[in-house]
Formats: sequence, C-alpha cells, structure tokens
Amino acid sequence: MTSRRPVVAANWKMNFLRADVHRWAEGLRAAGPRGHRAHMVVFPPSVLLETTARALRDLPVAWGGQDVHPEAKGAFTGDVAASQLADLGSTWTLCGHSERRRDHGETDVLVGRKAAAAREAGLRPLVCVGETREERRGEATFSVLTRQLEGVLAAGDGPFDLAYEPVWAIGTGETATVAMAQEAHAFLRSLLVTRLGGPRASEIRILYGGSATPDNAASLFAAPDIDGFLVGGASLDPVKFLGIVGVYG
Ligand code: PGA
Repeated sequence: MTSRRPVVAANWKMNFLRADVHRWAEGLRAAGPRGHRAHMVVFPPSVLLETTARALRDLPVAWGGQDVHPEAKGAFTGDVAASQLADLGSTWTLCGHSERRRDHGETDVLVGRKAAAAREAGLRPLVCVGETREERRGEATFSVLTRQLEGVLAAGDGPFDLAYEPVWAIGTGETATVAMAQEAHAFLRSLLVTRLGGPRASEIRILYGGSATPDNAASLFAAPDIDGFLVGGASLDPVKFLGIVGVYG
C-alpha cells in the first residue's frame, strides 16, 4: 500500500443535473464519509461546480474542474479559466483526460500548458496519461507514457499529481490487472525520480483510473505505487464511490 495520502477522485464527466448533485451529496452523507484515510475530490461539469460547492459544503470533499484553458483570460468562447475555477472554491483540476485528448485534439504540449495555468491560479493539476489498446499491443506503452509525462515537465516546475488511465480500460468494464497497473505506475515513478529527484518524485501521487470499482480497488490498492483512484462510472453512485474510498480504511 502507498505511503502517500491517497486520493480518490470522482470524474462525473457530462452527467448529472443539479438535483442529482444534491442527491449524490445526500447519499454520501448517509453513507458516513468521515474518518477515511483517502482524500476525496469530485470533478463535476463546470456548470455544476457552484451547485457541487453548495451541496458538499459540510463534507470533507474537495472539488475541481474537468478541464482548464491554458490562457489566463480572453476571447476563448466556451472555455473556462483557472482563475474562474479557483474563484468558485475549486482546489483541483483535471488536465489531459483521454476523452479531451481524443475528442478535442489535446496535445502533450497543450496539456502541459494547462497544468501550468492551473498551478498559476493555485489549483492542483491531476494530469491524465495512458496508452490506447493499439499502443499497448504495439508495445508502445512506455514510450507513450514518457512522451505524455515530458509534456507536463516541459511546462515548468510545480506540484501536480498523475492519473494513469489506460484508454482501453476507461468505461469498458475491463480493468488493468494489478501487475499491469503496478508496472505502469512504477515506470512513471522511475521517470519522475530520474527527472525530478527522489524527494520530489515521492511526493507525486499516481492514481489509477479505468473501470475502477470497490471490488477491483480492493486488490489494486495494495500495489505500492498506486496512490488512489480516478473513478468515472462507479463514482456516479456515492455508495460505490465511498466503497473505493474505504479500501484505504
Ligand atoms: P471509468 O472512467 O471509471 O468509467 O472507466 C474513468 C475516467 O475516465 O476517469
């Protein structure tokens, strides 16, 4: 098990209306969300951030954006600035989720700039990396992870966490085995040690994401380099979300 304080994060993607957010918070409250070792974070759609802030205000849960623009402000229709997320009380943001890389053509350079903009506004970026099925089959997993991580490191120094999310495991019900996930996490950790030195590298959490459930989290959490989970589908149910939080005690 990790020696870092784990993070279990809910990625709600493009789901929920305001009433669902309140129901989710009620469900979490009823399930007893206090006293857990893992830190809880929720990533709602940006239009639901304020509702989320209100619904979760008495609960030990942080929240953040699912995406952020690399520029501080300006003529960028439809986008959200890091300062706007921070102004609402967000303390985190996702950067470079594979659905953004796939559907919005986000490059490693852009993702790095987003992480830098987030830090500038005082947000903690949770940067998503991971290979597609074809890349894994072509034995390109390590080179993809290297390229994606270099994009973040090239954009400057400062705190961030990583989520290793093999694209073939996202929303498919197919989870990486403990050995596969630990191998990728250990590889990312070794890159961080090489590039940033041991002390800095040991502060960076690497979460696992991709069809995480309370059942598979119960075995994945034991791997030494898995520092928590980024949860999509299962996070829509507060009881399942808390079930994953609970694997850390
Ligand atoms: P999933 O999504 O848990 O539904 O696979 C994870 C993610 O995309 O962050």
